[in-house]
Amino acid sequence: MNLIPNQRHLFDIPDDVAFLNVATMGPLPIASFEAGQRGFARKLQPWTIPDADFFEDTRQLRPLLARLIGADDAGIAFVPSVSYGLAVAAQNLALSRGQKILLLEDQFPSNVYTWRTLAADTSAEIETVSARGNQSLSEALLEAIGPDTGLVACPQVRWTDGARIDLAAIGARCREAGAALVLDLTQSCGAMRFDVKDVQPDFMVAAGYKWLLGPYATGFLYAAPHRRNGRPLEQNWINREGAEDFSRLIDYTDRYAPGAERYDMGERSNFALLPAFRASIELILSWGVDRIEATLAHRNRAIADALESRGLKVGPNTERGPHYLGALLPEHAPPDLTQRLRAQQIYASKRGNRLRITPHLFTSDDDVQRFLLALDQMLG
Ligand SMILES: Cc1ncc(COP(=O)(O)O)c(C=O)c1O
Repeated sequence: MNLIPNQRHLFDIPDDVAFLNVATMGPLPIASFEAGQRGFARKLQPWTIPDADFFEDTRQLRPLLARLIGADDAGIAFVPSVSYGLAVAAQNLALSRGQKILLLEDQFPSNVYTWRTLAADTSAEIETVSARGNQSLSEALLEAIGPDTGLVACPQVRWTDGARIDLAAIGARCREAGAALVLDLTQSCGAMRFDVKDVQPDFMVAAGYKWLLGPYATGFLYAAPHRRNGRPLEQNWINREGAEDFSRLIDYTDRYAPGAERYDMGERSNFALLPAFRASIELILSWGVDRIEATLAHRNRAIADALESRGLKVGPNTERGPHYLGALLPEHAPPDLTQRLRAQQIYASKRGNRLRITPHLFTSDDDVQRFLLALDQMLG
């Protein structure tokens, strides 16, 4: 596959900034920023906003998000956060006493607290899965799924170390066991191939502000066909049948718009954020997720080799997300390592005892050289 040449010209990243921290927050492409600015400016003159435009951005964006994950348009809903999307899922999953909810060790908190609440409400039990011995995390999860599993809630890559989960295998095992599968793809969607047809999750959610390069407080939920008759988290006017006719909104109806649209958040028609989100998704689709993945994999393999040769373990390439590095820091690493890097305009993040290095298409060879040199100085 041909790799994507450097795309820094599309971003506002000065040459002396090495931004290796997309896992915390992806930068907005300049085109998305400008689209957002134009959208925000519309509010200066609200009389110029026709009623139909309350529907326009979501109408255009829904199929793009669907394309990103191989879904049908009717499976997509707009959510402002992962926690919101997971709350929709939790509200629509029936678990019973003693059933298990499987989570990964060190999973992202939004994807833990939601299930703790559901467990408390249903008397289901949470089981946290960790890899033992030579087992991969994915193998450990696969092994843990059994007849008493009611739900598996997991990511495609773990946010701390990039450990990769074989979602097609997990999906198949969940179906065999009759367990529901809920995915948080925030740390992979847009950078790693994923197709709902291969995995068949019940629900999938992704925040837009990391690998999708969108604004904060954007995101989307996918609901499987058999999960599109559920109860939305909130009851608002816009995802009801006939909402387009503003003069008839007080003809209240119990009928929702078709598909997963019923789960759309209130005030989904964000005139500032959605045009920016759309521009980012269009850019990602124009690059192609498979080419993004291949390009980042190539970059990260080189960084991984350089880190391993310095004694920082990143784990086998086959067991981590190709776009994601979580290097185990040596014990003598200074506790303020990321602050020291920051002082040199090098941005990475620390989660637990791992240094997270998450470059993107704007990353240059010079960024990587500067990062490695600084690391050599700081780790001695
Ligand atoms: C895996 C993962 N999920 C979700 C989020 C964000 O969660 P929320 O949208 O609930 O703030 C993050 C942010 O770091 C994350 O890494």
